[in-house]
Amino acid sequence: MQKKTIKDVDIAGKRVFIRVDFNVPIKNSVIEDDTRIKGALPTIKYAVEQGAKVILASHLGRPLKDKKKAEEKGLPYDAGKYTLKPVAEKLSEYLGSAVAFEQDGNIASLVSVMNGGDVVMRENLRLDAGEEKNDPDFAEQLADGIDVYVNDAFGTAHRAHASTEGITHFVDICVAGLLMEKELEFLGKALEDPDRPFVAILGGAKVSDKIPVIESLIERKVDKLLIGGAMAYTFFKAQGFTVGKSLVEDDMMPKALEIEQQAKDAGVELILPTDHQVVDSYDPINSRKSIPVAFTNTGLVGLDIGPETVEIFKAALDGAKTIVWNGPMGMFEEKPFDEGTVAIANAVAEATDKGATSIVGGGDSVAAVNQAGLADKISHISTGGGATLEFLAGDVLPGVAALEDK
Ligand code: 3PG
Repeated sequence: MQKKTIKDVDIAGKRVFIRVDFNVPIKNSVIEDDTRIKGALPTIKYAVEQGAKVILASHLGRPLKDKKKAEEKGLPYDAGKYTLKPVAEKLSEYLGSAVAFEQDGNIASLVSVMNGGDVVMRENLRLDAGEEKNDPDFAEQLADGIDVYVNDAFGTAHRAHASTEGITHFVDICVAGLLMEKELEFLGKALEDPDRPFVAILGGAKVSDKIPVIESLIERKVDKLLIGGAMAYTFFKAQGFTVGKSLVEDDMMPKALEIEQQAKDAGVELILPTDHQVVDSYDPINSRKSIPVAFTNTGLVGLDIGPETVEIFKAALDGAKTIVWNGPMGMFEEKPFDEGTVAIANAVAEATDKGATSIVGGGDSVAAVNQAGLADKISHISTGGGATLEFLAGDVLPGVAALEDK
C-alpha cells in the first residue's frame, strides 16, 4: 500500500490544501481531547517548514443534520457549537504562530495575502450542504487555486465527501499526509501481515456495530479474540445464560452463535468474560459487586468486566506480537465502571513493553489509555473511530481510494 505522501512532492511556495480530521469533542469552547489535533501536527509542521501556504479544512460534528433534527423536534439549535475557531486557537498555540481563521466567508481574501509558511483554517466544512453530498460544485470551489491536495484525515477517510473524495477530481497533485501514512502502515500491517500471536480485543455496547470487524478478524485468523463490554451479553444470552437487565441485542443472538462457530472452524480462540461487575437495578449506588457471569440473576445489570476476566485477558495478551484494541470493557464514562477498561489499557501497555506492536482505536479505549497516562507506551493510537473499524473490516475507504486513483 505504497502511497505518495506530502514528502514526495514539491510544496515550497505552493497553495496546499490539507484535509485534517479536527472533529474533536469541544465543551463551552474548551477542547476535551486533542489527540486528533496533535496527530496532524507532523504534516502541518512539515508543510510550514517547506514554505507552503497551508490551507487547513475539517468538519466538526454534524451541524446540518443536528439542525434538521432540532427543528423537527422543536428543540433549540446551538449554531455556536459547530465552529472550528477553538481548534484554530489551540493550533496557533501548538505551532507557536497565529493561524488565520475563516470568518463570514472571507477565505479567498485570507488566502490571497498568504506568504510561504502561513497557515489559514477554513470554517467547518459541514456548514455547507455540498460537503456531505460530495457535490462537485462545492468540491471545485474547495479546489479553486489549490496546487496540492493532502489528505491527512484518516478519521474521515470512510466518508466520500467533497473534501475527502470530490476535491481529488479537481486538483492534479493529491497525496497522503503523514498521519494518514502512519495509520495505513500500522493498520495495514495488522490486517495483511501481522506478527503472531495476533490478539484482538473488542468491546463496546453493541455487537451489531462490530460484526464486520469480528468476521474480518476471524477470516484473517487472528489467534485470539477477546470480547468484553456490553456486547458480550448478547453472546451469553445466546448461550442460554441469564444476563439480568444487562444490555442485549436480542436480534443479534443467532449472529453471536454463528460467530462462535466461525471462530471455532477457523481455529480462533474466542474468549469471553467469566466474571463481571454488576449492580442491583433497584439500588445501583450501593450494590456494586463482582460475580461470575453464570450467577447473574434477573435484577442485576452488568456494567464492567470483573477481576478474574482482567487476569484472563492479561494472560491472553502475554507473548502477543500484535494487539489491536477497539472499544471499552464496560461503562467507561461512569466511575468506577472504568476500572476494567483501564486495567486492559495497562495490560496492553505491558505487552507492548514486552515486544508487541499495539494499536488502540475508538474514543473510549483511547481515552482510557490517555487517562492512565499510557499513550506513549502504545505503538499506535489510531485517530479513527468508524474509519478504523471499516478499515479493519477490510473495506476500501473512499478517501484512501481517491488518492490511489491519482
Ligand atoms: C469521526 O469522528 O469518526 C469522524 O470525524 C467522522 O465523523 P462522522 O461520523 O460524523 O462522519
